[in-house]
Amino acid sequence: MPDPAQILREAYEQVRRDYGAAIGQRRADLVTPALVLDLGAVQRNIDHMASELKQMGAAVIRPHYKAHKNPDIARRQVAAGAGGLSMATVWEAVVLAAAGFDDLFVVNTVAHPAKLRALAGLARDHRVLVAVDEAGNAADLSAAAVAAGSTLGIMIEVDTGMDRCGVDSAADGLALARQVTGLPGLRLEGITGYEGHCSLTRDNDLRHERQRLAMTFFTGVAALLEADGIPCPIRSAGGIATWNWTAAFPGITEIQAGTYVVMDNFHGVMVPGFEHSLTVQATVISRQSGKVIVDAGSKSVADPADVTIAGHDLPVFRFDEEHGMFDAAGGSPLRVGDPVALVPGYSPSTVNWYDAYHVVQDGVVADIWPVIPRGPGHHGLA
Ligand SMILES: Cc1ncc(COP(=O)(O)O)c(C=O)c1O
Repeated sequence: MPDPAQILREAYEQVRRDYGAAIGQRRADLVTPALVLDLGAVQRNIDHMASELKQMGAAVIRPHYKAHKNPDIARRQVAAGAGGLSMATVWEAVVLAAAGFDDLFVVNTVAHPAKLRALAGLARDHRVLVAVDEAGNAADLSAAAVAAGSTLGIMIEVDTGMDRCGVDSAADGLALARQVTGLPGLRLEGITGYEGHCSLTRDNDLRHERQRLAMTFFTGVAALLEADGIPCPIRSAGGIATWNWTAAFPGITEIQAGTYVVMDNFHGVMVPGFEHSLTVQATVISRQSGKVIVDAGSKSVADPADVTIAGHDLPVFRFDEEHGMFDAAGGSPLRVGDPVALVPGYSPSTVNWYDAYHVVQDGVVADIWPVIPRGPGHHGLA
């Protein structure tokens, strides 16, 4: 495998070479579209989450890296007390290990042989956890760990209602846990069950009811394991839409929320208290037919239906690939050439489309950070 630390170093050098001329510029002068990260707002979001969890005295946070894909942000989360990191892909774990992080939980099942090798190799000198939902896959993880001379931490994945990966019944969870405990190279650490389906319910009471149902089922799986004499010390769940309820739910030890650090409109309407630290800088390019049209379309900002222009109350008319169109029939002071900041509908996907963050402090670009690993691919890490 190529040296991940070198790939990471080169990623920083590359984005500073490509976008470094912007350092010292006001965000309003950036060439658009540009991904902008307000560092003050990032830190306030991290501090808000940390202090709320501390006050609750309940679960810790293991922030999900997929929301931002940047080691500098992860470093700030860990400095504020995060108990390890969670991530969706093996390559995210490899990057984070190269950046000096430990206690890495791939909250996903992993099956490709190259990924199994990478994961098991990482576990030689890092604490690595991974989700599992069937015995055959557990056997493959066991074989990879034995071949690498490492031990993988195993988290039984439970489907809490999302209809994604995960065992569907407590009995299946128990059967799998028993199998895992008998396999070499594996150490059963607990259960995981992201209740992401709840984020589709905007009504607060209904969302809370769904979260309660999901977590009652989930913690029941842990109870069954323990009644059978199988320790289940980690019970990991919780995304941003339900973070406070799940953090306080009896039996939950950690939450995996990620989007709180960047925030977006999809989650912002449900979850107060966090700032929109992530925006896409754009330029108005047309004011025809009662519209404000900007040079950032659906290739530049995710979940267009929920995109807004910061400081302007204009509904979306339509997003084409390179045109973001807002209905300004009621009038707008915006003119062609004006700089605007778009708040993404959905931030984790928006981030994934860019190479680099323009890191802004007090409205001025202070640094350029890479988005790494960008996209679903291995970024040369395989
Ligand atoms: C398994 C898992 N855990 C946690 C999260 C947390 O993310 P968010 O904060 O956006 O809810 C996600 C998001 O997709 C996820 O897939």
